[in-house]
Amino acid sequence: MSSINTRTYESIPAQTVAFLGLGVMGGPMAGHLAKAGHSVTVYNRTAAKAEAWAAEFGPPGRHAATPREAAAGADIVFCCVGNDDDLRSVVLGADGAFAGMKKGAVLVDHTTASADVARELSKAAEALGLHFIDAPVSGGQAGAQNGALTVMCGGDAAAFERIKPVAASFSRAVTLLGESGAGQLAKMVNQIAIAGLVQGLSEAIAFGQRAGLDMEAVLGVIGKGAAQSWQMDNRGKTMIEGKFDYGFAVDWMRKDLGLVLDEAKRNGARVPVTALVDQFYADVQQAGGRRWDTSSLIIRLK
Ligand SMILES: NC(=O)c1ccc[n+]([C@@H]2O[C@H](COP(=O)([O-])OP(=O)(O)OC[C@H]3O[C@@H](n4cnc5c(N)ncnc54)[C@H](OP(=O)(O)O)[C@@H]3O)[C@@H](O)[C@H]2O)c1
Repeated sequence: MSSINTRTYESIPAQTVAFLGLGVMGGPMAGHLAKAGHSVTVYNRTAAKAEAWAAEFGPPGRHAATPREAAAGADIVFCCVGNDDDLRSVVLGADGAFAGMKKGAVLVDHTTASADVARELSKAAEALGLHFIDAPVSGGQAGAQNGALTVMCGGDAAAFERIKPVAASFSRAVTLLGESGAGQLAKMVNQIAIAGLVQGLSEAIAFGQRAGLDMEAVLGVIGKGAAQSWQMDNRGKTMIEGKFDYGFAVDWMRKDLGLVLDEAKRNGARVPVTALVDQFYADVQQAGGRRWDTSSLIIRLK
């Protein structure tokens, strides 16, 4: 688990919150909540990570043995696990967060998951007198460590207004985009926009290298023009060097593109380049790159 880079926090009354899932993203996000002065109880499936987190951030941070215990008494329960099934396993069931939450409390899910599971858990929450906001994030590991994530939310406006200033502890923008599921759909839009771009950047760099150009110099120039992108600024140099041992894992990207392709089948959207890039990522997985950063798409071209 990584430490965080502290920042200034909005001054709001301290809340009692829980955080479930202390991975690459969740660990630093929960850390910012504690640094912002909130009382944070964490849960992680692998308990050693929760103990290490509590040693770094407690008090006010502490850890619990189950999601249910972590969620007991919390005003807001944040969550960031892997996929739909992981999410159901920490939220539902006898030891799940919903079983421990007090009436009126809000569960904010930062997992990148399907819009369907968001709607399913929102309905389940409503039946229990709870609220559910789907809130996937963009900004990567660095965004989580710096407390500068972008959060795309779906759900009830009143519940959103309650969580917004608290989620601001680890974010630079927290925005409600519509009803339950809208946050996940917006994240799918984000991933479609990234997938084709990373392939384009890969082709550009591989082409330039074959042409014998000094590609750092070339990116330095074209990065100040219309070809500029976050991927070029943050990944161009490491793509030239062939370094991928960090960042947003290819396995996660394939999960996300799978969600996009499922949703596109339902809503009729045509996403041919995204479908192709998804298959290119399957090649990277086969080449041993399951945990490499998504910029590793370029290895197919070298
Ligand atoms: N990394 C990024 O740059 C990034 C950026 C944007 C969005 N995301 C999304 O954020 C989510 C988390 O990503 P991450 O990079 O933080 O992943 P990660 O480092 O692999 O962490 C996953 C976390 O979920 C927990 N978990 C997984 N399955 C579980 C289960 N069945 N029951 C209980 N806990 C479970 C893991 O617990 P253990 O410690 O026990 O394994 C761990 O705490 C994913 O949906 C990902 O797509 C990631």
